[in-house]
Amino acid sequence: MPLVIFVGLQASGKSTFFKLHFDPTQPYISKDAMSGSGKEQRLQRRVRAYLEEGRSVVVDNTHPTPMCRQALIELGRAYGAPVWGVYFETSLEDALKRNALRSGRQRVPEKIMITQHRRMIPPQKREGFDRIFLVSMKEPFGFTIQELDPAIDSADRQIV
Ligand SMILES: Nc1ncnc2c1ncn2[C@@H]1O[C@H](COP(=O)(O)OP(=O)(O)O)[C@@H](O)[C@H]1O
Ligand SMILES: [Mg+2]
Repeated sequence: MPLVIFVGLQASGKSTFFKLHFDPTQPYISKDAMSGSGKEQRLQRRVRAYLEEGRSVVVDNTHPTPMCRQALIELGRAYGAPVWGVYFETSLEDALKRNALRSGRQRVPEKIMITQHRRMIPPQKREGFDRIFLVSMKEPFGFTIQELDPAIDSADRQIV
């Protein structure tokens, strides 16, 4: 049962994609739904609990760099779970526009998104992912999903 790690800028469609394409009973963890301190530790504890039960779990956070993903990937591998990366491709411009349409806590400061976009390194097989999927929004709504060819791993793909 896979450990599924979402990677994508704020407003790239991660939460919407989850709602559309996964079963409502699918275990799902996002720091957005957590408050207080020690979120990373608590998140990892919850992921571990699912993996111990041999269950699949989706972790939905921005996860912009290999370093942000490393501990989760190691956890998945330690439990023998296939580790899947799902990369949400978007331009910064489009994500900023979608973010501007959101209200309240949902809206993220632009500065944070610009920084996260600059840091963003799409998931690579060599980080330890068994499979990597590329998700893009399609007009007027919905998503296209492609599985990445391992050969693409040799090039350092960056969002443009
Ligand atoms: N496929 C889509 N096409 C157009 N707009 C979308 C699509 N998916 C999500 N949105 C809109 O984009 C915004 C961000 O989506 P969301 O799923 O919350 O992103 P994230 O979880 O990555 O922050 C929301 O306002 C949502 O309505
Ligand atoms: Mg979200």
